[in-house]
Amino acid sequence: MKILVTGGAGFIGSNFIHYWLKKYPTDSIVNLDALTYAGNLENLRAVENNKNYKFIKGDIGDTELINDAVKGVDLIVHFAAESHVDRSIMDSGDFIHANVEGTRVLLDAAKNNGRIRFHHISTDEVFGSLGLKDKPFNENTAYDPRSPYSASKAASDHLVRAYFHTYKLPITVSNCSNNYGPFQFPEKVIPLFITNLMEGKKVPIYGQGGNIRDWIYVDDHNAGVDAIIKRGEIGETYCFGGNCELTNLALTKKILKLMGRGEEMIEYVADRPGHDLRYAMDYKKAKNELGWAPKVKFKDGLIKTIEWYKNNKAWWQNIKSGEYKQYYKKNYFDRTGKSVRTIN
Ligand code: NAD
Ligand code: DAU
Repeated sequence: MKILVTGGAGFIGSNFIHYWLKKYPTDSIVNLDALTYAGNLENLRAVENNKNYKFIKGDIGDTELINDAVKGVDLIVHFAAESHVDRSIMDSGDFIHANVEGTRVLLDAAKNNGRIRFHHISTDEVFGSLGLKDKPFNENTAYDPRSPYSASKAASDHLVRAYFHTYKLPITVSNCSNNYGPFQFPEKVIPLFITNLMEGKKVPIYGQGGNIRDWIYVDDHNAGVDAIIKRGEIGETYCFGGNCELTNLALTKKILKLMGRGEEMIEYVADRPGHDLRYAMDYKKAKNELGWAPKVKFKDGLIKTIEWYKNNKAWWQNIKSGEYKQYYKKNYFDRTGKSVRTIN
């Protein structure tokens, strides 16, 4: 099988590529990524010489490039997106371009090139915000996005389903809760807090730290995507969650404890505007129909993640200093030569 992965230089997409090439070594993967601030080819160093892996630098909003890239592809797994809520609050333009327009371009290319099987990666945030006593979100929860990021993801989900109904494009959608693990960009709360503590800096909690997220280890998410690709029903949506609801304060205390630091390292800062109170996922459908459930216990996953950041200091220090982009400008294209295609 030949798979086009979009956004494979980001956090979940790069973990997906490692997962897939290990489990299905005879499949081939083309990773198409614009290398925005969040894309980092360092995440793929371990596979860059694998003959079944190829990288294309490009924007999913580039119709000509995408039409070319989908030729001969059996499956598209669409991760590429602007993904950080705080950035969407500062400026939503890139979010509409990548998440809405980019998804449309990909869908059209899939439709016009033999109706290519299309799996769309989405988020629990499209469902809005739960009260403390509400039941978790499921596949039938009405959409109620409340940030520019979640609104752009909601729009993309609607477009994907519209292409199924209108053009019989063989699509599936997954909506997942908060991921954590290796290669997560240190703007997201877990890697930000781990790396701040390693630098001796405080950890900024928004508001009072009472907001709740449902944490899932990234490999569990990708195992769910695998289950949908192999056993999912065309046209269907599946919700994934980690069965691990934690307030941000409880999460922070766990990180502090595992890193041997005290609560004096907490700094309460201004709240995120429109900060969703609580996300939680009911993943019964995925369990019953796909045989999927999250496997990694939060404590084990968190220990593994902290270890990874301890053992890969150069990776996140280069990001925090901005050095990682210089590195690729200077070296990457010389080093791998033909496997890289650049637009612009
Ligand atoms: P990320 O920000 O780490 O990676 C996104 C990748 O997409 C980057 O490599 C970036 O360069 C690329 N990209 C952005 N715009 C592009 C464009 N126009 N063309 C081509 N590539 C582009 O994000 P992530 O956390 O890995 O999230 C991946 C997907 O999973 C997103 O669709 C996100 O909405 C979804 N998701 C994330 C989480 C989470 O907790 N991180 C949870 C559920 C769903
Ligand atoms: O729920 C899935 C979503 O999870 C994904 O769709 C998004 O792409 C991903 O970024 C993530 O969104 P969140 O906004 O939940 O993640 P973030 O790591 O930014 O924040 C998690 C919680 O921690 C949230 O309640 C805000 C809080 N927070 C975050 C940061 C960065 C802080 O208190 N301090 C911080 O410095």
